[in-house]
Amino acid sequence: MKIKWTKELSVNNERIDIEHQMYFDLLNHICNESEKGASKERVVRLINEFVQFVRFHFMSEENVMIDTGYSGYAEHTRAHNYCLESVKTKVFAFKNDEIAVEEIVDFAVEWFFMHVSSLDKQLGKHLALL
Ligand SMILES: [Fe+2]
Ligand SMILES: [Fe+2]
Repeated sequence: MKIKWTKELSVNNERIDIEHQMYFDLLNHICNESEKGASKERVVRLINEFVQFVRFHFMSEENVMIDTGYSGYAEHTRAHNYCLESVKTKVFAFKNDEIAVEEIVDFAVEWFFMHVSSLDKQLGKHLALL
């Protein structure tokens, strides 16, 4: 599986765009390693790396929102928290052999497309006006 970042996903903010590309890189890494037959222990480590990055990325967007007095902060942060909670629940299920890694990746990709094309783009517009 290859998940590609395309120009349509740009939020017109270089730093956020770079972090979004990193989000895809980490997901691709998980998929590639899993398809190559990596051990579960290794896949869990790569998932943990991805989750740490997602936390970092959300925090960096939230800090920018606070610093620039963004009115959509509460709604946007709720969406981030929902994503993290959902991913955490799925990772727990994966560790217990209840779901396959693809279920985590599919959720992360679907949620991300929806989030970037709505709330992150709105944030990008706000930042472009500063
Ligand atoms: Fe966001
Ligand atoms: Fe984002």
